[in-house]
Amino acid sequence: MDETGKVIVSGSEDHEPFLSPRPGWAEQDPRDWWRACGLAVHKALHSSNLRADEIKCVGFSGQMHGAVLLDSADEVVRSAIIWCDQRSEAQTHELEKLFGRDALIQLTCNPPLTNFTLTKLLWVRETEPANWARVAHVMLPKDYVRFRLTGERAIDMADASGTLLLDVANRRWSNEVLSKSGIDVGLLPALHESPAVCGKVSGAGAEATGLRVGTPVVAGAGDQAAGAVGMGIARAGAVSATIGTSGVVFAATDRPALDPQGRLHTFCHAIPGRWHVMGVTQSAGLSLRWFRDRFGVVSRDGRDPYDILADEAAAAPVGSEGAFWVPYLMGERTPHLDPNARAALVGLTASHTRGHIIRAVMEGVAYSLKDTFTIFEEMKIPVTSIRLGGGGARSPLWRQIQADVYAHEVEIVAAEEGAAYGAAILAGTGVGAWSSVDEACDKVVRVASRIPLSPTNSKILQQNYRTYRKIYPALHQIFS
Ligand code: XUL
Repeated sequence: MDETGKVIVSGSEDHEPFLSPRPGWAEQDPRDWWRACGLAVHKALHSSNLRADEIKCVGFSGQMHGAVLLDSADEVVRSAIIWCDQRSEAQTHELEKLFGRDALIQLTCNPPLTNFTLTKLLWVRETEPANWARVAHVMLPKDYVRFRLTGERAIDMADASGTLLLDVANRRWSNEVLSKSGIDVGLLPALHESPAVCGKVSGAGAEATGLRVGTPVVAGAGDQAAGAVGMGIARAGAVSATIGTSGVVFAATDRPALDPQGRLHTFCHAIPGRWHVMGVTQSAGLSLRWFRDRFGVVSRDGRDPYDILADEAAAAPVGSEGAFWVPYLMGERTPHLDPNARAALVGLTASHTRGHIIRAVMEGVAYSLKDTFTIFEEMKIPVTSIRLGGGGARSPLWRQIQADVYAHEVEIVAAEEGAAYGAAILAGTGVGAWSSVDEACDKVVRVASRIPLSPTNSKILQQNYRTYRKIYPALHQIFS
């Protein structure tokens, strides 16, 4: 990105999909992220006239919450247990017993959840003692890539918030949580604010990526906080709704706003002195990908399979004639905090078609994100604008469904790079291209279009949302 916010070049490389050796488990090999990163950066450099010495700073973003475990020789001890893994339910109960749920919310702003890094560490300690005995360093996914690029062990406040080891209100590791849960602070990386320069590209990093030795690197942020920066979600009132693999509704706040029930995450923002609250749907884009992978797409003229699915969905009427999807393929966080929740298609009749079901999946994901807006209302979190991000913002049908379900106009920003765009803004701020993240967002983030809600369709979907809200309580017994 240059100083005007223009994307000069981008490169990408797939990493391996996550492995799920048991239902609810999710693991990846961190070395594969580093391999893919090296290739992606090489590709970007080669496909532009950009010289490595013209790059002033590198930013970071990546999936949150994962536990990367290294031994004293910096070798990976076991596959990383990643953000959506649900194996550590027993450890959430242990933490509740050890601290008391409310006390833990006071200490970290969040309740114990299977998604957070701490419960994963406790699972390894209890279940794989031989592996745990070798652990000398713990880091999050993007911070492993940073470690390979720079040799530094560092993390930003926003990603650290999702470990359950951070005193989120005071932006420091929580001594109380660390000592009571028996985690040595020496295992953890150093904390930095997101736009702070915290390392330089090393010789080995330069060789793997083509970047110049000594290029400064900022702390960056986890995917949600960086994505929010990339969409200009900086000040209170600005809200984003992102449908990637997971789905997140994210609001910037001036203070650490707590949901006493812990249904939302209260984390540091990637902006010093600011926080955010967010609700998470575990399987948002994943719901549609699951449908595509399991039930197939009739391929036509090399078109994007998601466009074909959207065409099928668009042929079914708004509201899917009573078919509902509850998207709990990987348990659910907001609002249920239930790793045992399961997905369901409800209300089928013989007249429903594939198109109805695809539309029901898209509507169900939007209802699930709407649950976060409902909690925002309860907590009096202001919502003045809603910007859409992720794959859900690229599909015209899903954009409209979201506007109608949220009952609010939605905005689409011009830059499509999501979290990578936010990471580049943080990098530019780190080396003084802008005086602050706020200034950077004001200067570079541009709204490309606004989608008004359709009053007639919104009315149908509001009615259906009320029905959707009754499905989980009715099925809860069956899931558990
Ligand atoms: C946020 C979260 C996801 C993952 C993967 O809490 O779990 O954003 O980082 O996208």
